Amino acid sequence: MKPWFFFLFLIIVGCGHRAPKKPISGRITDSAMVVSAHPLASRIGVGILRRGGNAVDAAIATQFALAVVYPSAGNIGGGGFMVLRLKDGTATTLDYRERAPAAASDTMYLDENGDAIPALSERGHLASGVPGTVAGLVEAHSKYGSMSWAELVQPAIDIALNGFVLTQKEAENLNEIQDDLKDLNSVLPEFLINEVWKAGDSIRYTDLGHTLERIRDHGAAGFYEGKTADDIVAEMRRGNGIITSEDLRSYKVAWRDPLFFTYKDYTVISMGPPSSGGVALAQLLRSVERYPLNEWGHNTARSVHLLTEAERRAYADRSHYLGDSDFVQVPVENLLSPLYLSERMKNFNAEKATPSHEIKAGPITFHESKETTHLSIVDSQGSAVAVTTTLNDSFGSRVVVAGSGFFLNDEMDDFSIKPGVPNMYGAIGGEANKIEPGKRMLSSMTPSIVTRNGKLFMVVGTPGGTTIITSVFQTILNVIEHKMTMQEAVEAKRVHSQWLPDSLYVETGALLVDDSISLSLMGHAIRTRDAIGRVDAILITPDGKLEGGADPRGDDTADGY
Ligand code: GLY
Repeated sequence: MKPWFFFLFLIIVGCGHRAPKKPISGRITDSAMVVSAHPLASRIGVGILRRGGNAVDAAIATQFALAVVYPSAGNIGGGGFMVLRLKDGTATTLDYRERAPAAASDTMYLDENGDAIPALSERGHLASGVPGTVAGLVEAHSKYGSMSWAELVQPAIDIALNGFVLTQKEAENLNEIQDDLKDLNSVLPEFLINEVWKAGDSIRYTDLGHTLERIRDHGAAGFYEGKTADDIVAEMRRGNGIITSEDLRSYKVAWRDPLFFTYKDYTVISMGPPSSGGVALAQLLRSVERYPLNEWGHNTARSVHLLTEAERRAYADRSHYLGDSDFVQVPVENLLSPLYLSERMKNFNAEKATPSHEIKAGPITFHESKETTHLSIVDSQGSAVAVTTTLNDSFGSRVVVAGSGFFLNDEMDDFSIKPGVPNMYGAIGGEANKIEPGKRMLSSMTPSIVTRNGKLFMVVGTPGGTTIITSVFQTILNVIEHKMTMQEAVEAKRVHSQWLPDSLYVETGALLVDDSISLSLMGHAIRTRDAIGRVDAILITPDGKLEGGADPRGDDTADGY
């Protein structure tokens, strides 16, 4: 078949029309809501809100519950970021990201020839940073909690010890990692009793339940000292890991100033370094602000081309400038200045893709990420919390701390293990994100809160590695520019690009065929993939109700009253 005829054929077959459709709304409630990756976790969070707890209380209980019912990403062996906006409008962010152990170095994942051994930063004991989740939740509680600590931890203990029923997706997740669990753990995890799990099976995490009891009774010391800490250190010794009891004892969280920026008449409150999320999101929204996206339409060739070109530039900056601001100077103000951003978009050509060929990237297999998880909460007083928390890859390093029953993260892979060598998301890093003892690895997590005229408008975030930033970006645009409901904005098919690799990733069915052809003709290398992100968000509707957007790509559930 002649190429032109083939294209014509595709256009004729694929040309649909964008028929107006009835809006789809997510769960709507009057007063309070939790949206998280698992129905049981959302229900536990709402239970806390109903008993008079505030959004921070609910966030703590929901995260502990996720560590039990959604152990591929919910965690006590990882880290995260919390963005909070209180009912009086004040905002802050809490950084409980993992840190590199004291014995870490920028050559720890290199062989004798200086070549990177990526598997070492992704699987097994050497892949873990010092976990921050428990310290983060204790700190959030001491500053903003209103219910007793024990009341917030107890629901997770109950489900861990009494058991709960697996969903289809959770059964599949557990089945996928059976071989790694056997290969990477010298002591087999107690829950490895089934070779094949299926939906409806009941599962218990007894060791984890007892670890949570120690955390309930002793707070941070229940994790960073005593039996749990001893179990972590013993696990490290067995598997040649490097986390010591001193690393655990000296772990510190950090309250950080939120990153505030505007998009039209909206203000976004997001996470600054060591996340790249807020900075990149701000660059993206500001770079596209002056274009008529609403007129161009959702996922049309013109719109996707613009987003991709903005993303190419923002991710090139991310790779060069972003790292832990406690260790390197991150020029946030310059990166967000209107002059800088308009210079960056100056060579934007509405007809043609800009190739990203200045730096050669190795061949990349795009990683299918399920690793991180996000929860959005609004309480009846109007306080809002956005939390994104992670083990990095699905089930982290796949190492379960024997005797304590929880997965450790493989967050060290978020460092640049060697300048120019891509990590599991294909992201390239440089000097700013090199490994140093005590440093936090660069993140893409983008928990964000949007306000309009000083009033809460949206709480949003997602997992997905480097696709986190572009998923949050598109979700905000879907509501503001494309007038979608929260649920529609979350369900809408997504696209993603990140400078290197020089590809435009599209979810199956995201583009009409004629838009896909137009983008190819502009020079975009389109690659189809399945699920990008799992966005969980809450929108405040004009009549003051809460609309949940729970991502159907997972078991995500909006619950509330
Ligand atoms: N581990 C994913 C992130 O922090 O971006």
